[in-house]
Amino acid sequence: MSVGSKKSCAYSEKEFHHYIGIDDRPWLHLEISLGCNIRCAMCTFHEQLEKVTWTSLSDVQDLGDELNRFGVVHLGDGSEPLVNPDWYQIVSHISQLGAKVSLQTNAKLIRDIKSAERIVNSGLHLLSISIDGMTDNTVSRIREGIDFSTIEQAIVLINQAKKKLGSETPHLTANIVAMCSNLSEIPDLISFLLFHDFIKARIGFLELRQENSQLVSELLIYDKARAKQTIAMVYQRMDAHPQPFVLDAELFGETEGMSKRNACTAYRDHIYARHDGEMFACYGKRRLGNLFADGVDTCLTSEEYADHVETVTTPGNNICSACSFCRVMSFDVVDDHFGSEAVSYYSRETIIASLQYVKEGGNAEDYWRDYYIARNGGVQC
Ligand SMILES: C[S@@+](CC[C@H](N)C(=O)[O-])C[C@H]1O[C@@H](n2cnc3c(N)ncnc32)[C@H](O)[C@@H]1O
Ligand code: SF4
Ligand code: SF4
Repeated sequence: MSVGSKKSCAYSEKEFHHYIGIDDRPWLHLEISLGCNIRCAMCTFHEQLEKVTWTSLSDVQDLGDELNRFGVVHLGDGSEPLVNPDWYQIVSHISQLGAKVSLQTNAKLIRDIKSAERIVNSGLHLLSISIDGMTDNTVSRIREGIDFSTIEQAIVLINQAKKKLGSETPHLTANIVAMCSNLSEIPDLISFLLFHDFIKARIGFLELRQENSQLVSELLIYDKARAKQTIAMVYQRMDAHPQPFVLDAELFGETEGMSKRNACTAYRDHIYARHDGEMFACYGKRRLGNLFADGVDTCLTSEEYADHVETVTTPGNNICSACSFCRVMSFDVVDDHFGSEAVSYYSRETIIASLQYVKEGGNAEDYWRDYYIARNGGVQC
């Protein structure tokens, strides 16, 4: 992670958090919904539009001030938090306890000045918006149900609301999923974010978590050189802009995945709770109890948690070795682009052959089109 502008000096994540008033205590990643109001081809976290459900306000209120022990309560890791009709009361409640609240959204429900003012008035500290391109076509192809103009309008409205209400918060950050077809738009997207007073962007790469005929040739493992050039261009855009800006493009660096996994402290820095309160360490790897039934203390002092910590702090342990937590992934590792379900569907041999095909000058799209034709008995779908 580094800060742009003419300074271009390196900032750790911790320094960035201190810069915006976030201390070193662990983060609670609290889902307040399950499901979404749009459909993104790459998202496998829920049944999307088919079934949307959410956490009740009273469950969160009944926790008393237990959430205050976290430096940040982050809403929206795997679902869309703003579909919860009580999101405003939940954010206000947690903010009033003294915890900083961060929220990740597709921005679809920020559609007029009133909804933007509610975001600002809720006390939200950080607002992260997902945006993967600079044109309506690109964004709506990746995120069916929203386009660039709609997200742009939401950003303008939030900035208008902050100005009108004289509020510095929420600080604006962006989450960008890079893939072959949106790479060329990413430098312009960063300029756009700088222009609209964003203070940070994270660029991650697409991970194929299950079979998908459209996305398989989109993986950046097929276009590594162009991806690295794009990141270099993004730094140039940041340097040309006077405003300090943090770019988290850590996933495109050279650090090998196993050393990241050995150094990972997510087991203590990021605790995860599903919308129904089920609480986990390491993003679902070990259940600690139920947040609403058992409370934070019981979950964090449980034998299960102590046992898990002992396991994952042992260098080279099997759990960390097989972990696909997004921050320990490596750009050069095939399995960090193809998730385990995708590998077992396509087979490792087929994937390795696809990489060889591209290395020899072939095109990933052609390779996978032929693969699907062969799989369908010679019929093109
Ligand atoms: C699952 S969403 C939940 C929050 C909210 N609905 C949103 O889209 O911002 C969190 C982030 O995960 C990203 N994401 C989803 N599927 C992904 C995948 N297969 N590879 C990389 N990032 C992915 C999304 O683009 C989004 O920025
Ligand atoms: S908006 Fe977020 S939660 Fe909804 S489908 Fe897309 S990535 Fe998943
Ligand atoms: S299991 Fe994954 S998230 Fe947990 S400490 Fe190991 S690498 Fe980090």
